[in-house]
Amino acid sequence: MTSEETIALFDRYVIGNYRRYPVCLVRGEGSHVWDAEGKRYLDFFPGWGCDLIGHCPPRVVKAVQEQAAQLIHVPNTWYMEAQGRLAQALVEKSGIADAQCFFCNSGTEANEAVIKIARLNGKPKGRYKIITMLNSFHGRTLGALSATGQPKYHKGLEPLLAGFQYAPFGDLDAAAKLIDNETCAIMLEPIQGEGGINLPPAGYLEGLRSLADQHGLMLIFDEVQTGMGRTGTWYAFQNFNVVPDAITLAKALAGGVACGGLIARKPYAEKLVPGTHAATFGGNPIACQAALATMETIEEDGLLERAFAIGDRFRDRFEKLRARTPLIQDIRIRGTMIGVELSIDGAPIVDGCLKKQLLINVTHGNVIRLLPSLTLTDEELQAGCDILDEVLLAQGK
Ligand SMILES: Cc1ncc(COP(=O)(O)O)c(C=O)c1O
Repeated sequence: MTSEETIALFDRYVIGNYRRYPVCLVRGEGSHVWDAEGKRYLDFFPGWGCDLIGHCPPRVVKAVQEQAAQLIHVPNTWYMEAQGRLAQALVEKSGIADAQCFFCNSGTEANEAVIKIARLNGKPKGRYKIITMLNSFHGRTLGALSATGQPKYHKGLEPLLAGFQYAPFGDLDAAAKLIDNETCAIMLEPIQGEGGINLPPAGYLEGLRSLADQHGLMLIFDEVQTGMGRTGTWYAFQNFNVVPDAITLAKALAGGVACGGLIARKPYAEKLVPGTHAATFGGNPIACQAALATMETIEEDGLLERAFAIGDRFRDRFEKLRARTPLIQDIRIRGTMIGVELSIDGAPIVDGCLKKQLLINVTHGNVIRLLPSLTLTDEELQAGCDILDEVLLAQGK
């Protein structure tokens, strides 16, 4: 089928809840994808953050193929080795000795599960309120959406789940002021992704930890976008002097295969007794084998260190570009989470790059967001940055 024919099928049969670019992708390898006409694109935003180790990573492809030929799905009424081994690996990487995992299929589901844990834990003391942050993003199901501190996503869907209160990201005093005797948790992305790649000010996450300890609250980190090595450590919290009580994961967890999960310290994890929560496909053997192969790839290919090197190279390129154009207002980078705030709307930059066969993203209207793969080569990085330079300089004229 041509791209045009596929697009015609969508126009007729697929609900239009996404804004799509008129490109039909058929193949991927590393940091490149190809469309139905054989045109190649360099991808600085592979899989919206899911393809952290590139498109079709070989170990993941092999693990999925082998598992699919053996046993595709096992419901959670049975034990399966891959899920147990994945839980062990995730807990060991977290360094949280007593932690346990729950598995689902996406980020929003992982957040639903952790919201339930926080409420189940708070219930005996009459606590149910959760403090989250403005400009956060936690997902589209109604619980996670209620946690999301962006009114534009709530519009028309009210009433939302009760009990969420929003503090400005980075403002410790504002969070402290929201705590009362009905509060059960503080929940946030340690680095905000969709909200514009916002890095936490020094001492902020540590301050939230102290507040949580002081008031007996759970501290929950949504690491759906930051997790699995994206920021140069297995989990972003390991960049800071803080340990959360629970972490939610998805996106990069299984190298592009749908998989979500959470890690919680035992006193919280044990609130999810039988009957409180479930996911039919959660922790299925294909997803778990893919996640194990992803972790093996990151470890054996030394990709955590590569995250820092990639981040440094992008910073260098954008600092040089900043000297040449007033369009760049701010550069925010941690490993391969890269945000460049512009003084103009970013949509024309995305379109300009697409024309030159470079895929990027803009979030929050004016922040170029790049979530490149840890396997991005220096040559690919320079080639993509050359295109970005060209497009931004042309726009600034
Ligand atoms: C931090 C964060 N949490 C949750 C989600 C929702 O994940 P999913 O789309 O897999 O439900 C996202 C998605 O962008 C995210 O960035």
